[in-house]
Formats: sequence, structure tokens, C-alpha cells
Amino acid sequence: MNAQYFIAMPGNDAMTSALAAKFACGAGRIEMRRFPDEESYVRVAGKVDGLRVALVCTLDRPDTKILPLVFALDAVRELGAASIGLVAPYLAYMRQDRRFEPGEAITSRSFARILSRSMDWLVTIDPHLHRYKSLGEIYSVPARVLHAAPLLAEWISGNISQPILVGPDQESRQWVSQAAAKIGAPFTVLEKTRKGDRVVDIRLTETNVFGDRKPVLVDDIVSSGETFIAAARCVRAVSSVPPICVAVHGLFAEGTLARFAQEDLQVVTTNTISNASNRIDVSGLLADGIAELSSAEA
Ligand code: R5P
Repeated sequence: MNAQYFIAMPGNDAMTSALAAKFACGAGRIEMRRFPDEESYVRVAGKVDGLRVALVCTLDRPDTKILPLVFALDAVRELGAASIGLVAPYLAYMRQDRRFEPGEAITSRSFARILSRSMDWLVTIDPHLHRYKSLGEIYSVPARVLHAAPLLAEWISGNISQPILVGPDQESRQWVSQAAAKIGAPFTVLEKTRKGDRVVDIRLTETNVFGDRKPVLVDDIVSSGETFIAAARCVRAVSSVPPICVAVHGLFAEGTLARFAQEDLQVVTTNTISNASNRIDVSGLLADGIAELSSAEA
């Protein structure tokens, strides 16, 4: 079987080294800079000829990443890699999965089409699958979706005594119910109405379930933070124990971490996107998914 090799897109060095260590294989990187006219210069640093390459690139703030990523994927293939997969701990452009208003672009489909052309497989964690049942509906290459709920549950169980898990909306029920079942904790799910990109209304569906337990708000994504902040305010109205937020992907739009600090609200995330809230390591989870796809390639 051809040897495995990992390559980091800029900003993905820590995850790439962790994965290469787990596979006891080599790792390289993509060199990148901008020309004065803002076009991208991309260079594969390291030899990839005959190797099974996994390029690591988390896809938060995707618009500046996608073109260099496609250039890198294409270069790796042209340089003779036996295969080229993408490890995207966070996969972007999953939320616009239909035309809500006439004329809107269905960006999830276009993004998937662009990436599928340049890679052989994809591994990611908890993409925001809402109306799509699987990534196969939009990605034309094998895609392995991994789930972080057990890791979230493990962190909660190891760090919070007497938790009650709280889903801020019906979409989060899958997270919350799985994580709660794993650690034998109760859970409740709130009702959310989104009124704009940064405006949400949230209301409690049950008020007398909290007791002395620590409310742990659990969601897949924290972006503007409005969902967690509104949910935390609802919970504070009925619980004397201050809540904590736990999410898989910490996107944190500008100013969001400062808002959490103002609200005196602690937030913990996995390291799918590198930032100060990272407490839960997903490199082992990713390695399991990569190993499965790699053995299918052999
Ligand atoms: C929504 O459907 C997601 O599960 C999250 O609740 C949402 O993306 C969080 O966004 P924000 O932090 O901007 O409220």
C-alpha cells in the first residue's frame, strides 16, 4: 500500500502534526502568499509522488481559503500523489441548502461541486446537515461524517458535576439527546425562532427541570453567539446555577468572544477551529475516519 502523508494548509499545522503522529507518517505544508494584485501563490513543500495524501484544511471563513485549497489539491495531484483526500474538521457552506427567497444561490451545492472535482475523498466532523440527509446528496466523492457528541459528553461528564443538558433549538436535539444518554444526564430542548442573521427569539419549553443542576447549553455551531446568549438568558431566568456553553465548532464572528465575556458566559469548543475556547481534542476522531477511508483505498 502507498504510504500516508499529511499536508497542512496555512493555519492547520497543529492538527496536521497531531494526525501525522497518530499515523506515524510524514507531514508537509502548503506555502502560500499573496501577490501585490492579491492573487495567491501556492507551493507544495515536500515530495508527494506515489503517496496517499490527506490535505488538512478547516473551512471556517471559507471565501479566502477555497481558491488556494483548490490550487493546492490540483498541484498535489499533478505532482503524482497516489490519491488526495481532504480533512476538513469544519466544513463550510452547509447552511444554504435551499432557496428560501427567489433568486438565492444554493451555495452548499456549488461549494460541494467545486471541491468534489479536485479531491478523492472527504472527512469532516458534524457538517450542518439539516435538509440534506447525507453529504452524498451534494458531494460526488466518498465522504465520511464523524460525530463529536460522544467527545462533548465525555468532557461534560469529566468537568461538570450534576449537569442538565440544554439544546437551544429543535435542530440541536440530536446532539443533546445523544450526549445526555451517554452520561446519564437529563436534558431539555428550547424553542428558537430566527429573525435575522444576528437576531433570535428563544423560549423555554419546560421551566421546572433545572433544580440544582448545572445547565450545559449544547450546539453544533457558535457563530454570532446570539443563540447561546439568548438561550443562557432564558435559562438564567429559572435556574440559580449559571449556565455554561459547549459547542462543536467555534466560528466566533467578530466581537462574539467579547460578548460572551460581557454576559459572563463561559464557552467551550472542540479544536475543529483553533481558538481560545478549545478544550476538546478531535484529532483521534478524525484519525479513525481517515483510517477507514484509507483502508477502503488500499
Ligand atoms: C443553527 O441552526 C445552528 O445549529 C446554530 O444554532 C447556529 O448556527 C448558531 O448561530 P449563532 O451563534 O449565530 O446564533
